Amino acid sequence: MKIFGKDKSEEKKLDSVAIIMDGNGRWAKARGLDRTMGHKAGAKIVQGILEHLRDLGIHHVTLYAFSTENWKRPKREVDMLMELFYQYLDTVVLKIVKEDESFCMRIIGDKQRLSEKLRNKCIEIEELSAGRPFICNLALNYGGRDDIVNAANSAINDGHTELTEEILSRYIYTSSSPDPDLVIRTGGDFRISNFLLWQIAYSEFIVLDTLWPDLTNEDIDRCIEHFYKRNRRFGGLDPEETNKA
Ligand code: IPE
Ligand code: IPE
Ligand code: MG
Repeated sequence: MKIFGKDKSEEKKLDSVAIIMDGNGRWAKARGLDRTMGHKAGAKIVQGILEHLRDLGIHHVTLYAFSTENWKRPKREVDMLMELFYQYLDTVVLKIVKEDESFCMRIIGDKQRLSEKLRNKCIEIEELSAGRPFICNLALNYGGRDDIVNAANSAINDGHTELTEEILSRYIYTSSSPDPDLVIRTGGDFRISNFLLWQIAYSEFIVLDTLWPDLTNEDIDRCIEHFYKRNRRFGGLDPEETNKA
């Protein structure tokens, strides 16, 4: 169903969407299941949501999968999540990047803290899919503050002595993607939880009560409908006000 085709995306420049995939634990708890079952259920819907966003003409999707703060969780949950990320990349994602030549997966965040096995899988997938037009940035051990500090240090190491917004933007983890036009958070919490702090300066923000494993394509359609109703001014005035002045 292409209710929001490419023309509409171009008209309002909806080309970059970021999602905070929250609520897996509560989804499991509501069913009397272990939290880890919520993460498994959450992983199952990722591919369908990505395909739907691509069908809507969006070229950049950034998904928050694991934050720099999520290491605080019990070791058992963290270990299970790391194994799930590995299995997901090694099976589902590897198959997609081998079969679909338009799909590029970039893993954003500090890879150093990931196991060697997981880090190598991330690199393999990035290398296989580099340069393709539909970009999915998967945020794994990602922190917005870490992103900014890492970008600043990389710029300094490259010899920059004074940073500008333009220079820093070149070193940020998502430098291959435009800043998100729209950020969606599932799970009902109105906070950013250290996601894309630099990049979301003028993003539209939508919070859904729906828990991530329950999210449907229709929920995405509704978010996009809301996005088109928003009036983005970027600090300026509406065009008709500007013309009057
Ligand atoms: C999001 O779901 C997944 C990760 C942070 C890894 P949660 O695990 O945070 O689920 P809730 O918020 O506890 O329901
Ligand atoms: C944000 O969810 C991180 C991810 C979805 C990966 P959290 O569940 O970690 O966020 P808080 O702790 O509720 O802020
Ligand atoms: Mg949560």
